[in-house]
Amino acid sequence: MVVRDILPGIEAVGVIDWHRMAFDDLMDLSDGTTYNAYVVRGSEKTALIDTVEAGFDEEYVTNLIRAKIDSVDYIVANHAEQDHSGSLPLLLELFPMAVVVTTEKGKELLCSLLLIEEERIMVVEENDSLSLGDKTLVFYPMPWVHWPETMVTWVPEDRILFSCDLFGSHLATSDVFSDGSCRLHEAAKRYFAVIMQPFRGKIREYLDAVEALSPAIIAPGHGPAYRDPAEILSLYRDWSSEEGKNLVVIPFVSMHSSTKWMVDQLVDALIQRGIQVRPYDLGTASPGMIAMDLIDATTIVIGTPTVHFGPHPKAANIAYLTNILKPKARYMAVIGSFGWGGKTVQALGDMMPKLSAEMLEPVYVKGKPGEQELVAVISLADEIYKRHHDNHLV
Ligand code: FEO
Repeated sequence: MVVRDILPGIEAVGVIDWHRMAFDDLMDLSDGTTYNAYVVRGSEKTALIDTVEAGFDEEYVTNLIRAKIDSVDYIVANHAEQDHSGSLPLLLELFPMAVVVTTEKGKELLCSLLLIEEERIMVVEENDSLSLGDKTLVFYPMPWVHWPETMVTWVPEDRILFSCDLFGSHLATSDVFSDGSCRLHEAAKRYFAVIMQPFRGKIREYLDAVEALSPAIIAPGHGPAYRDPAEILSLYRDWSSEEGKNLVVIPFVSMHSSTKWMVDQLVDALIQRGIQVRPYDLGTASPGMIAMDLIDATTIVIGTPTVHFGPHPKAANIAYLTNILKPKARYMAVIGSFGWGGKTVQALGDMMPKLSAEMLEPVYVKGKPGEQELVAVISLADEIYKRHHDNHLV
């Protein structure tokens, strides 16, 4: 990556990871990612905002050399996760006078995860500031975006907010600023789905705080920056709300086509009732895409056969993921078939204690489904329609 100007005295010095296929081995990435890092040069002092993933040190340091950074006073660690802090140990060797600036919790995590010496760390609290001369860094801790130590850094003279993971997107692109494209918005939504979704209550609070600052630029830790922050703020308002859309998501796995037949019947019946529906075959589906649709879904239906005594492992996996993402869905159901026994429906319900969704009557049948089971599937579609209608969604 090259060094790019953001504003006079503020440059982007991070790196592009064009080929990364997965993040935390949790989220599949279709478009790589970036590890954004910035330089803020004041008239008297220089600060670096975040660093990059370890393994990209050489490219990052090359960028600092290209930017002619020969001394650093502060290295702001908005977030201790290694994709932003991974180069800290090297930087502290290269710039022995530099001080790491982070929250109290950030200090604990940096010492624990990266073995940073405590003496190199300055702890900041809400509204604390550091003068760089003609530019100022102001710090706003925003815990649980998505770790407990997270904060954002504000430069009031330029009205630029360095938000790290908040407003980020896993999108490797040569554009340093948003192009307003659907591709970027989908990358940001997928990012929100996996990273921010469980913390959307906190995110809503922080949106108020960010809007109160009225930033001219939001510069996140992944993906492009926003010269029109309303673009990403309005998307975040939508995604973080508790209002679901007229959408049913149906992750399913089928061993001998019985469950798939039931899913197909349910999909048709829901479409006929004016409900948007998205089935995902768990044999091939992207967990990131499912997580993204969970942002909007009012109803989730998991389709699975019984394997031995409980749900198919792929269904159990998506139930586990759904539980940790805590989507806003208000209704759940299980459909599928079994050969001779098991407690699949109860087991799936037990795997999702964090959801506050109403569990609808399952359609769980012995053997190959037929006319009677079709009636039950249609009845489930009617129940879903009734609830979506009651919520003014259809
Ligand atoms: Fe981009 Fe939570 O790290």
